[in-house]
Amino acid sequence: MVKRVGIEGVGAYVPQRVLTNKDLEKMVDTTDEWITTRTGIKERRIAEDWQASSDLAFEAAKMALERAKIEPEDLDLIIVCGVTFDYPFPATACILQDKLGARKAGAMDIEAGCTGFIYSLSVAYGYVATGVYENVLVVGSDVLSKVTDWQDRSSCILFGDAAGAAVVSTYKGQGELLHFYLRSDGSRVDDLLIPAGGSRNPASHKTVEERLHYMKLNGPEVFRLAVRVIEDAVLSVLEKANLSKEEISLFIPHQANIRIINTAARNLGIPEEKFFVNVQRYGNTSAASIPLALYEALEEGRIKSGDYVMLVGFGAGLTWGAYLIRW
Ligand code: ACO
Repeated sequence: MVKRVGIEGVGAYVPQRVLTNKDLEKMVDTTDEWITTRTGIKERRIAEDWQASSDLAFEAAKMALERAKIEPEDLDLIIVCGVTFDYPFPATACILQDKLGARKAGAMDIEAGCTGFIYSLSVAYGYVATGVYENVLVVGSDVLSKVTDWQDRSSCILFGDAAGAAVVSTYKGQGELLHFYLRSDGSRVDDLLIPAGGSRNPASHKTVEERLHYMKLNGPEVFRLAVRVIEDAVLSVLEKANLSKEEISLFIPHQANIRIINTAARNLGIPEEKFFVNVQRYGNTSAASIPLALYEALEEGRIKSGDYVMLVGFGAGLTWGAYLIRW
C-alpha cells in the first residue's frame, strides 16, 4: 500500500557576505545595468573561504529539523544534492550525517545539476511512500563561487552560494508530495559543465593552467533550452494531476535568470506574479535555489494551507523536472 508523503519542515541558509553588481564592476568589464536588465540579479551571497557545501547544508538542515520537530536520531536517510560537493568522494551527505549526529541514517549524494532538489524529493518520496523509511532529510547545497571563473564576465555575474533543506515524512497534514516529472538530455553535456577534475580529464598542471576546473556555460543555448523544458515539465505535471494551470497558486522555479522565468510564464499563459522570484537577491544558487525559494515563499505567507504549489527546475546534464505539492 502506498502511504501519503509530506514535507514536514523547510529551512534555508545563505552566507553573510554580499557581492553586489557594483562590486562586480570592479572585478570584470561589466555594469550593474547590463546584469540587471539581462538577468534580474542585483546581488548574491558568497561563502567564506572555510565554508564548504556541508557547512551550508548543516545550517539549513538544522532549521528544517527544528521546524519539523524531528531529532537527528529520527532520520532514516540523508540526501544532499548539488554540483559542488565537499570532495569528489566521499559523499557530502556522510559529512552532514556526522555534523548532525544522525546516528541511524544512511547518507548519499545526488547529482542532477540545478534540478537536484526535485530529483531528490522524488527519491525521498519513494522510500517514505513504500513505508521503508519514516523520515528523509533532503538538502540542496551549493558553493558555486568556488568553481566560478571570476575572469569570465559572461558567467561570473550569475551565481551565488546557499543551501535549502526539507524533511520528508509520512504525511501529517501539510506539504503533500503529489506528482513529479523527471527528464534528462545527456547530449547537452557540453552546454554546462566543469570539464576537468573527473575521470575524463583528471587534475593536472595543464588542466589548471587552462582553467578547466571552472564552470563553462553556453549561456544563450541554456537560456533557450531552459524556457522550453520549463514549459514541458509544467504541462506534463498538470496533465498527470489532471489540474489546470489556473488551479496552481504558486510556481517556484529554479532561479537562474528573471528573463527565463518571465519568458516561460508568458509562453505558458500564466501571470508572472504566480512565479515566485528571489533571483535579484541571491543569483543562481544551483541545487539550493528551489528549496531556498520555497522557504522564502512560506516565510512571506505566499503559500496557504490547501494551495497547489509547483516546483520546476532545469540544470546541468541537461536535467529538468517538476513537482506538484498540495500545502
Ligand atoms: N557584462 C557586459 N556585457 C556582457 C557580459 C557582462 N557580464 N556578459 C556578456 N556580455 C556581452 C557579450 O560579450 C555579448 O557581447 P557581443 O554582442 O559584443 O558579443 C553581449 O553581452 C550579449 O551576450 P549574450 O551571451 O548573447 O547575452 P545574453 O542576453 O544571452 O545573456 C546570459 C547572457 C545572462 C548568460 C543568458 O544567456 C542566460 O541567463 N543564460 C542562461 C544561463 C543559466 O541559466 N545557466 C545556468 C543554468 S543551470 C545551473 O545553474 C548550473
